[in-house]
Amino acid sequence: MRETDLSVDICGVKLKNPVIAASGTFGFGREHACYVDLNKIGGISVKGLTLRPREGNKPPRVAETPAGMLNSVGLQNPGVRHFIENEIPFLRQYSTAIIANIAGNTIEEYCEMAEILSDADIDAIELNVSCPNVKAGCVAFGNTTEGISEITSQVRKYCRKPLIVKLTPNVTSISDIAAAAEAAGADAISLINTLLGMAIDIETRRPILANNTGGLSGPAVKPVAVRMVYEVSRTVKIPVIGMGGIFTGSDAVEFLIAGASAVMVGTANLVYPDACIKVCEGIEQYMKRHGFSRVADITGSLILNT
Ligand SMILES: Cc1cc2nc3c(=O)[nH]c(=O)nc-3n(C[C@H](O)[C@H](O)[C@H](O)COP(=O)(O)O)c2cc1C
Repeated sequence: MRETDLSVDICGVKLKNPVIAASGTFGFGREHACYVDLNKIGGISVKGLTLRPREGNKPPRVAETPAGMLNSVGLQNPGVRHFIENEIPFLRQYSTAIIANIAGNTIEEYCEMAEILSDADIDAIELNVSCPNVKAGCVAFGNTTEGISEITSQVRKYCRKPLIVKLTPNVTSISDIAAAAEAAGADAISLINTLLGMAIDIETRRPILANNTGGLSGPAVKPVAVRMVYEVSRTVKIPVIGMGGIFTGSDAVEFLIAGASAVMVGTANLVYPDACIKVCEGIEQYMKRHGFSRVADITGSLILNT
């Protein structure tokens, strides 16, 4: 049997395997480190950072839905400087890539964070231009080609790390948005963030989330995410990182076949702390079963029906 090489290179960032913990579902790795060996995870995209600390939205901020969940956490985080001083030294004890996920209210805030983080010991910056749970900024940049172009090109001027732009699925043409991000200087694309949703308590006739609406994630969104990864990977030349409802190795392989070079695992981490490791093992088993020696050989290997 051929040896399997799980390593991937995403715009110069070398990952020992293609599985990355998705932002907002793994904190800064501390809680999960009690249960799993972080050395076995390809990378960690940390909780979305803002320039200053944020308390996030009022509770209830999460609600279970059929085959998924809604959240409106609202970017609760300790701020970018706290992250640099306290969380990077913790994460650097492990051999896993550190991706700083950032969000801002203004383009200036994004640029300032990109500049500060360019001097920090991280591997890449992921621009969250797509969070549906904050009132100002963020999603406003991600849902038009002009918006994504403007924010990506501005941040590019200050960012001296590989720049991953994370896309929202709440748009009409995901390919157009991805092409605009690539043209403006993105080194890689990650997608999808959550789909805007709502759940209502019919007894009170009030939305279940205090924020009224929230982002849908988990298995329910997977077919949408796979379709979008398929479309985007045929549009751009830069690497695509796929996510949305990945719980198993087979789920991840679907994204790779659709065109992703790596995957992120989100909601599954909230159910199974060892989800990333299990997904990775599943990918390896698939590779052995199908005689793939490198992950890159699976990427985009889709055979379309004619
Ligand atoms: C509780 C929660 C918090 C999240 N916070 C962030 C965040 O801070 N930044 C971000 O870019 N995405 C955030 N996301 C989106 C995930 O990273 C991911 O894009 C999305 O959930 C789809 O993947 P999944 O179905 O595997 O969870 C969050 C998702 C959840 C469920």
